[in-house]
Amino acid sequence: MGKLKSNTVIASGNYVNWSDSYSMGIKLIDDQHKGLLNFVNELFDHATGNEEEERAWFKGVIQYAVRYIREHFTTEEKLMKATSFPGYAEHKKAHDEFTLTVVKCAKDFESGGRMVLVKFAHFLKNWVLTHVAVMDRQYSDYFRRIATRKADGKLTITAADVVYT
Ligand code: FEO
Repeated sequence: MGKLKSNTVIASGNYVNWSDSYSMGIKLIDDQHKGLLNFVNELFDHATGNEEEERAWFKGVIQYAVRYIREHFTTEEKLMKATSFPGYAEHKKAHDEFTLTVVKCAKDFESGGRMVLVKFAHFLKNWVLTHVAVMDRQYSDYFRRIATRKADGKLTITAADVVYT
């Protein structure tokens, strides 16, 4: 997502920083998760309390954010399917429900519903951090279990083209 602005006013204590403990061991996934956390920070950054400003900014980014979220979920779902991950159905359900919620929020805002950016930012932050820590960790652990170690020392799942760093 875009570059963070430095003029944090209201929500500086809410920012979330990337930690290696969030790593799934797969660069593509980690990069996408970093993008999601950047978006959370951008939301906090633009939570000025001025509804008109918040609405204008949100309108300009929300469609891109929804596409980004969908792309990330599709990436994970392809990997889970390719490796016959047993938790696939439950994980996909969580993705679908979350996407529906975000799309509903976007539609509400666009149709003039009350806009409180900081509330949406908290919702997104809590969902992403919890989901990464619990559900994403499950497929990451599974991938590690079924991966084989190649001559270069990296763990690889050939069918899904996943290489652990
Ligand atoms: Fe990284 Fe299942 O979302």
